[in-house]
Amino acid sequence: MIVGVLGAGHVGLVTCVSLASIGHHVSGYDIDRSKVEALMERRMPFHEPGLQDALDAQVAGGHLSFTDDIAGAVAGADVVFICVGTPTRASGQANLLAVERAARDIAKEATGPLVVVEKSTVPAGTSTHVERTLARERPDLVGSLELLSNPEFLREGRALEDAMHPERILVGGSSPRAFEVMRRLYRPFLDAGVPLIETDITSAELSKHASNAFLALKISYTNALARLCEASGADIEAVARVMGADPRIGPEFLAAGLGFGGYCLPKDLAAFEHMSERLGYAFPMLAEVARINEEAIQAAMSKVRDVVWNVEGKRVALLGLSFKPDTDDVRFSPALALARALIAEGASVVGFDPVAGDAAQDEIPELDVAADPYEAAEGASCVVVCTAWDELRELDLDQLGTRMAARNLVDGRNLLDGTAAIAAGFTYRAMGRPDPTPASPPP
Ligand code: UGA
Repeated sequence: MIVGVLGAGHVGLVTCVSLASIGHHVSGYDIDRSKVEALMERRMPFHEPGLQDALDAQVAGGHLSFTDDIAGAVAGADVVFICVGTPTRASGQANLLAVERAARDIAKEATGPLVVVEKSTVPAGTSTHVERTLARERPDLVGSLELLSNPEFLREGRALEDAMHPERILVGGSSPRAFEVMRRLYRPFLDAGVPLIETDITSAELSKHASNAFLALKISYTNALARLCEASGADIEAVARVMGADPRIGPEFLAAGLGFGGYCLPKDLAAFEHMSERLGYAFPMLAEVARINEEAIQAAMSKVRDVVWNVEGKRVALLGLSFKPDTDDVRFSPALALARALIAEGASVVGFDPVAGDAAQDEIPELDVAADPYEAAEGASCVVVCTAWDELRELDLDQLGTRMAARNLVDGRNLLDGTAAIAAGFTYRAMGRPDPTPASPPP
């Protein structure tokens, strides 16, 4: 099939590559010309494991191309995906200007019957506006331009794997013809046993926000329990293991730590709350989820204060700057929230990340960025593990300690072996776990 994809961000680019990989002819468009030019030269705009090779293969095989001319992605296509950004306004409301522009552009360039698919995460009810826009721009194609919602559930850092092996495919709409087009589009996945869930369009839109908000809720619930564990002497790792063994709860998203970040969970939580309010349903649980997430940063700050005493004038090293491992994305990264809090309290902050150092420094110019964890530790009174990168599990603690002004370690992701840290002479603090040693005196 001929497929157009508008927006070459995380979702758009992975959609391009995955649909090309199952044999479709895909044309990707982005309003950012420099991004399109980079993609034409097969340069990835972000770090995502496996995506570069898959992109190379699909472009070389002639299944995938990129264009800075929107007509090139829309004219003659069977399906066009809207994968543009839906950032948050200051109020928490999703900014849907890019979605409106995409709908208008698609309508203008459509040459005949076309299935238009919302893949961007949008508030429930957006489809009504998109449908009106399509009809207003092209009254001649009413009935031929059919709208569906097909939210994406991929995770950054394993986006290609998620796109190629989805847990479910969700399609919302009302047109039997459009549903049939989507079944043809996703046939290889459906034949491999991936469940297809077909709903009305508003339920599909709402399901995406509902899923992300629930994941955020699970994390905040765990972090609230972590505070309770700290107060009572219990261990959140043990509590989460017990809870996760119940299949009604499940073991995932029960990791206590600095909380959730990234471009999806915080933004979607805020947009979902805003939408509920607009619809006249108060949903205070959502605000509480966000509050507990901010509290997690404060909990880490308290631990830093506990081990270094006065933060002002101290050097603190943050290991991991991206919002989660295997990505260079620092948007709404808890590590950067912690960096800002430390800087506000007068610390000098240095960070290390395997791939996100430059992006972090762009966000926080006062942040020093080191080439490796040991360089970051130089002269630091405290090291804080902020992101659960695998390579941080292998830290040589003695080498780290030798470079530091004082051996203090706050494990913001419960990543390290606390006993080994203590054996290496560290004062070690984890999140929601009993303190193994008393705080060492300030340097
Ligand atoms: C999230 C959802 O997991 C995807 O299903 C969804 O498709 C995507 O948003 C989206 O809307 O596009 P993503 O933002 O890539 O995916 O990241 P997650 O893996 O959900 O992690 C989010 C944050 O939660 C990270 O900062 C991570 O460190 C944190 N987290 C995750 C925890 O603090 N504890 C956990 O137990 C799990």
